[in-house]
Amino acid sequence: MGSVVSTLLSVAFTYLLSQVVSQYMWVNKHADGRPKSPWAPSPASLPWLWNGLEDYQLKGSSILSKWAMECGHFFSVRLGQKRILVLNDGPLVNQLLVDKDQYNSSKIPNGGFEMALTDNGKTVYAAPFSLYWSRIRRSVATTINNSPATWFSTLFSNQSEKLVHAIAQAWNQQENGGKVNADQLRGLVDLVALDTALIMVTNQSSVDPEDMVRLLDKVAILEEEQAKPLVQYFTFRIPVIPLVIAAKNILFGDAAVRLRNELLKYFVDWTLNTTDLDDDKEEQKRPLLAKVLADVKPSKNDPEPEQLKQDEIILNLMHITLHSYKYLSTIIFSMIQRLATLPGMQDRLRGDPEFAAAFVKESLRYDPPLRAYSHSSRVDQDVDVDGKKYRVDEDSELVVNLDTIHFNSDYYVDPTIFNPDRFLPSSAAGQVRKTVSILDNNPSRLPAHDHLAFGVSRRLCQGSRISEEFLKVLILQLVQAYSFHGGSTDRVHRISGIWSWFGREETIGTTIFFTSRSSSSSL
Ligand code: HEM
Ligand SMILES: *[C@@H]1O[C@H](CO)[C@@H](O)[C@H](O)[C@H]1NC(C)=O
Ligand SMILES: *[C@@H]1O[C@H](CO)[C@@H](O)[C@H](O)[C@H]1NC(C)=O
Ligand SMILES: *[C@@H]1O[C@H](CO)[C@@H](O)[C@H](O)[C@H]1NC(C)=O
Ligand SMILES: *[C@@H]1O[C@H](CO)[C@@H](O)[C@H](O)[C@H]1NC(C)=O
Repeated sequence: MGSVVSTLLSVAFTYLLSQVVSQYMWVNKHADGRPKSPWAPSPASLPWLWNGLEDYQLKGSSILSKWAMECGHFFSVRLGQKRILVLNDGPLVNQLLVDKDQYNSSKIPNGGFEMALTDNGKTVYAAPFSLYWSRIRRSVATTINNSPATWFSTLFSNQSEKLVHAIAQAWNQQENGGKVNADQLRGLVDLVALDTALIMVTNQSSVDPEDMVRLLDKVAILEEEQAKPLVQYFTFRIPVIPLVIAAKNILFGDAAVRLRNELLKYFVDWTLNTTDLDDDKEEQKRPLLAKVLADVKPSKNDPEPEQLKQDEIILNLMHITLHSYKYLSTIIFSMIQRLATLPGMQDRLRGDPEFAAAFVKESLRYDPPLRAYSHSSRVDQDVDVDGKKYRVDEDSELVVNLDTIHFNSDYYVDPTIFNPDRFLPSSAAGQVRKTVSILDNNPSRLPAHDHLAFGVSRRLCQGSRISEEFLKVLILQLVQAYSFHGGSTDRVHRISGIWSWFGREETIGTTIFFTSRSSSSSL
């Protein structure tokens, strides 16, 4: 017990000291003593200590949009005691995150939960801008770029077929007229998305479905853990809370670490099994991420790469798998629910891959699973916005708010209407329209041909191309197999994301009625 008390005391002392240093010394000065520029404007009269935290937890990024109406397109707000700087249009994102690479697109793990799940920033999503991070990114790029396109297209077609069959089974079991309720559908979509992620990331194509269900349960429990008030207060820097949590963890153990380790056990097995495989099978030309990560190749800026350790490899495989599963599942569920409300659009989609690709882009514009995400600065700097200088600190988070950016009427005509036609490359007359990027200045209000659902610049999602391809194939096969109606497009903000602080957005969903389109009634 004595050592517990002394550990507690030393944790307390270090904590208090760091608070004093960070809160009261140097706080408004550069290292050379010059005063810093002011923060960007902030919303008025938020509650003491908590500031915008409760609003954000309830409403997610839509509250950021409300504050943008009050403060302008670049504003600063505290969620709890954590200050974020919010970017509310494409050109601002371009200026701060693309042009300057935000000196240089770094990340900081926030709070104890994210630190536990990423082992202090060791995964590609949470790592600071560094050679370590670029080695993982390079490996992911190598794996995806050197897998044959036919491998992906067969996989996506196989996986879409699995969902089609799973839906048929769900309604056969019930024998109640093709009804599949929201929970059932979410369960099926979760399984297909996880299966797809496991095949792509870990080459595990025959995981026992019971193991998959167990894994999904553990992820759900982890999400509940992340949403707990104490965990949230730590993330949002409410004073003294880290101390309370440290004491709790010392006495009772850290639930997040325990659950993470339970999840990791699966990935340890899967990774060791794949790295043991020999390379003899020449016909199998697909590189495996586990193997590429275990043998990082030199590059121009990194001629003698330090190799990753085994635990770093496994942790990354787990994070990439869960990221892929969660965001694929979320957008697939949203797309099916929305399409159920639009039976006429199902007719248009049949046999029209170009329209299906536009439908996928419009879904990602309208219902992005991550409606906000951030890069953090590596240096203290001043930024110039609308002719004024504003302060950005080392470790300030610059948050991209898709809730305003994706609904800006200068770029998307009638932005609150769901309209895939806006993403068709040519107009009905066959004329190529003039378009801009959502990142461009747009004085003549030309339509945008892109969206930011996959992030931006150096931290852009490496799965963006294959994800859009998968979603396109899936939606085509689904409308080929079924007509469906019902559904609901209402959304909700969830406090937990995998594993950052922004949370995520998902469609709540309701019952959908499926009718098989095949003449044989075997379904
Ligand atoms: C529809 C599905 C997906 C969505 C909506 C999505 C979204 C995102 C977003 C918004 C980011 C940037 C996050 C941030 O800056 O915090 C990101 C990063 C990333 N994503 Fe995805 N993603 C999806 C699927 C995938 C898939 C299938 C893979 C891999 C096979 C993948 C791999 C990555 C990687 C490696 C990063 C890099 C992060 C970095 O360098 O910081 N994603 N994704
Ligand atoms: C940011 O990255 C660029 C290009 O890699 C580099 O030239 C620049 O020095 C970096 N800035 C900082 C602050 O590290
Ligand atoms: C697709 O399914 C077939 C038949 O089940 C299987 O042989 C093949 O390996 C699968 N391919 C991919 C890439 O999943
Ligand atoms: C991926 O797993 C399959 C078995 O599911 C195996 O036959 C194949 O060799 C593995 N791929 C590689 C490149 O090792
Ligand atoms: C993976 O390896 C473990 C032991 O290391 C073994 O029990 C398990 O059956 C293997 N799984 C597969 C899919 O080969």
